[in-house]
Amino acid sequence: MPKALITGINGQDGSYLAEFLLEHDYEVVGMARRSSTDTMGRIAHIADQLELVQGDLLDQSSVNALIDQHQPDEVYNLAAQSFVPTSWSQPVLTGEVTGLGVTRLLEAIRYVKPDTRFYQASSSEMFGKVQEERQSETTPFWPRSPYGVAKVYGHWITVNYRESHNLFAVSGMLFNHESPRRGLEFVTRKISQHVAQIKLGLTDKLPLGNLDAQRDWGFAGDYVKAMWMMLQQKEADDFVIGTGETHSVREFCEIAFSHVDLDYEEFVVRDERFYRPAEVDVLLANPDKAGRVLGWEPQVDFNSLVTMMVDADLELLRKEHGL
Ligand code: NAP
Ligand code: GDD
Repeated sequence: MPKALITGINGQDGSYLAEFLLEHDYEVVGMARRSSTDTMGRIAHIADQLELVQGDLLDQSSVNALIDQHQPDEVYNLAAQSFVPTSWSQPVLTGEVTGLGVTRLLEAIRYVKPDTRFYQASSSEMFGKVQEERQSETTPFWPRSPYGVAKVYGHWITVNYRESHNLFAVSGMLFNHESPRRGLEFVTRKISQHVAQIKLGLTDKLPLGNLDAQRDWGFAGDYVKAMWMMLQQKEADDFVIGTGETHSVREFCEIAFSHVDLDYEEFVVRDERFYRPAEVDVLLANPDKAGRVLGWEPQVDFNSLVTMMVDADLELLRKEHGL
């Protein structure tokens, strides 16, 4: 039975990846940091099939101990300070966790179990001010946030450990992926949750920032499969994962509101607090290499993603409020 260690197991992607690996007969060990409140909601339904261990990417000794004690065949580094706006208010923390945290894991693997296969969760935020209309594995980076800068570091240190120490280390450059398990502060979930609240009469406004920003949005459940596929290849290599379609925040709103027979223009209000010091205007993946080499393709289209998220939030709120 292969053994996988997932950092950030209680995050959105960690929960889908853990499900996927369990279905594929892996022994799954999940690293999560200690918290004074319960942060395991996304994995509560599979908790009895996992081994959960405490650790923090800020703490080298905890990371070393995990690799030593569990001797994983595969490590998926999904842990990060992942919210872009927080990276302006906590740039040093973001650099420590999202950037240097990658090196801490790679060092542990290099010294303790160098045949471990390593996946780094890189991001389309690295493309930032895009240098090509469709971003591929060869598009130059121009990050626009401290988060994006930290991810560029994480990407290159992964490539560097592959080249310097011959580790099987890959970087998945994933474009935005969403789901009903997405954190509430990210724009898609913020919209789906507010749409459900408005429909049920629980609120009457949705404050948003830049409606013209465009993203290549896919479904998280599809994207974790690509992570696994990258680690099953003969050679370690880096891949862009996305849908090849881009849509604006406005379009997301239009579809989400019209799904419950409402008009977004009556509820969305502009709020300066949600604009960013430097914006990533548009992201659009060129995922051709992933299709060709991995045989990966997204299964959930944009419209289905939006309606899935709205339906899930409606159901959740109805249960919560007994409606
Ligand atoms: P997420 O839901 O925000 O999950 C992040 C995880 O990292 C959480 O489990 C969090 O734990 C953990 N974490 C934060 N700081 C940590 C630390 N110091 N030590 C250990 N764990 C820590 O993010 P996601 O959407 O699942 O994304 C997974 C990864 O993919 C992240 O690295 C993200 O940057 C990257 N990524 C995401 C997307 C996307 O669209 N979702 C696209 C490209 C790349 P707590 O619960 O304790 O905070
Ligand atoms: N969060 C948020 N809240 N974003 C808003 C809002 C708002 O009220 N209004 C407009 N937006 C715009 C942002 O300005 C941005 O252009 C876009 O919506 C998407 O924002 P997020 O959902 O916060 O995601 P992100 O693209 O910044 O970052 C996500 O995707 C990256 C991959 O490109 C995160 O998951 C990152 O961790 C990930 O790497």
